[in-house]
Amino acid sequence: MISSVKGTHDILPGEVEKWQYVERVARELCGRYGYVEIRTPVIEREELFVKGTGGTTDIVQKEMYTFTDKGGERISLRPEATPSMVRAYVEHALEQALPVVKLFTMGPMFRHERPQKGRYRQFHQLNVEVFGQNDPAIDAEVIDLAWSLVAGLGIARAELVINSVGCAACRPKFQEALLAALGDDLPRLCQDCQRRAKTNPLRIYDCKVEADQPIIDRLPHSVDYLCEPCATHFAGVKAQLDAWGIPWRISHRLVRGLDYYTRTTFEVLGETLGAQNAILGGGRYDGLVKDLGGPDRTGIGFAAGLERLVLALPDGSTAAAPARAFVVAIGDDGRAEALRLLRELRQAGLPAQMELEARGMKAQMKRADRLQARIALIVGGDELARGEVTLRDMRTGDQRAVPRPGVVEAARALLA
Ligand code: HAM
Repeated sequence: MISSVKGTHDILPGEVEKWQYVERVARELCGRYGYVEIRTPVIEREELFVKGTGGTTDIVQKEMYTFTDKGGERISLRPEATPSMVRAYVEHALEQALPVVKLFTMGPMFRHERPQKGRYRQFHQLNVEVFGQNDPAIDAEVIDLAWSLVAGLGIARAELVINSVGCAACRPKFQEALLAALGDDLPRLCQDCQRRAKTNPLRIYDCKVEADQPIIDRLPHSVDYLCEPCATHFAGVKAQLDAWGIPWRISHRLVRGLDYYTRTTFEVLGETLGAQNAILGGGRYDGLVKDLGGPDRTGIGFAAGLERLVLALPDGSTAAAPARAFVVAIGDDGRAEALRLLRELRQAGLPAQMELEARGMKAQMKRADRLQARIALIVGGDELARGEVTLRDMRTGDQRAVPRPGVVEAARALLA
């Protein structure tokens, strides 16, 4: 047997209904908030993520699936969708059609991480991005969409955390203060943190090493170093969230693991998920469109892990499967008529199944039971002679003969 690749999963019948439900709710909500769907390729040039996600991130340094294709090009499986969305926005000059562009996409992402519950090598995201809007009201609106998605799926035990990481003007001062506060403690931090101090000091806040935590807890907070415009912007975001009654908490350590963030960052944490508790995360990235060769347009968005949304779903939240009919054939004549009826039911929009191998009545009824058919339509010699079909309610066991011409409508009424 050849098994699936480590960190990847088949989504089997029984589980897939939950995915369809999450995707349906997400799509409907995105539409309600004015987002239109975009689909970008799973493969991109490696440099898109080196420049976009950032050369100092764990994603680019350790986790990308990159290969040289037969034409000698360096190609990566996308580890996240934001750089692809920005590339498409720039490549197709989408800003020329509309001043504000609101896009969403859903699909697989790839990161070579150590698999555990909620963390996979192929996983799926709903990704939402807005380009060309600066007002803090859009930050609050994007957060509202994220929060409404979680609430709309009935995930009650969740928490919204927010932060502001400042901009190119104020962040250097914060980084300086951070390194100054670390001072003599720096050599006592883990190897990763020592590397981060040189490449991207903010990332030290991401450290999960137990022994480092007391030192990190004493470090300064980015919100205390914001320049005036960033501080005003963040105040505007918080005020709008309050006005909408969306509960938030500031997390000073929410710097996020990607290089492009400016100002607002946020995550929704699921309380039932264990170690990998971020259901979704996002933030503002005001320089990324320009860095990737586009016009000077700001951006903000988030991505939700579909696996994590599915994991956090309350029990029994997916819609029941539609009621089905099962056609039972007795004898050769019955079979020919049953096959005709089977297609008629389907053409009329009713889900219907039939045993196509020649089997006895008992075996066919057993199959109808296993498929949890709501009704059985029995077509045999007797029925044919009378121009009727026997309609059986599989829940009550009640049976009645229905004239052949009215059988599809009678089935529809029982399946409703
Ligand atoms: P991210 O925080 O790297 O952000 O990922 C967003 C979400 O994807 C996470 O909160 C988690 O639910 C899910 N996720 C990430 N990695 C894995 C994994 N290995 N297995 C399962 N789920 C995972 C981004 O990707 C940014 N592009 C979000 C964004 C959009 N920022 C602005 N716009």
